Amino acid sequence: MTYVVVEGCINCKHTDCVSVCPVDCFYEGENMLVIDPDECIDCGVCEPECPEDAILPDTEPGLEKWLEINADMAKVWPVIVDQIDPLPDAEKWSGLSKKSDHLSRRPAKQAFCQ
Ligand code: SF4
Ligand code: F3S
Repeated sequence: MTYVVVEGCINCKHTDCVSVCPVDCFYEGENMLVIDPDECIDCGVCEPECPEDAILPDTEPGLEKWLEINADMAKVWPVIVDQIDPLPDAEKWSGLSKKSDHLSRRPAKQAFCQ
């Protein structure tokens, strides 16, 4: 089993989840994070950290679509290991339930220190 990030994350991206993951298996898209299901050790510590309740165990019914998105995007998005500021409109999008049309499949633009 694995944990899965679902649509509540879209356009919020609070990233509280990142700071507690012991194996750094979150990956960052432009407006959402995903979990790599092959790397997740099912510890569950990220689930209660998300203010949007956007992290669920894959044992919940109906998560097939999101499990596939997590698995696919984790292969192409960059890893994120440190908490960052939420997206600027996070408050506006918080708690909205129908956000999947707004999912961006583009990777996050990350700042790299040289
Ligand atoms: Fe990381 Fe544990 Fe959450 Fe999996 S369940 S993403 S290992 S914190
Ligand atoms: Fe997204 Fe929740 Fe993490 S909004 S970035 S899954 S804390």
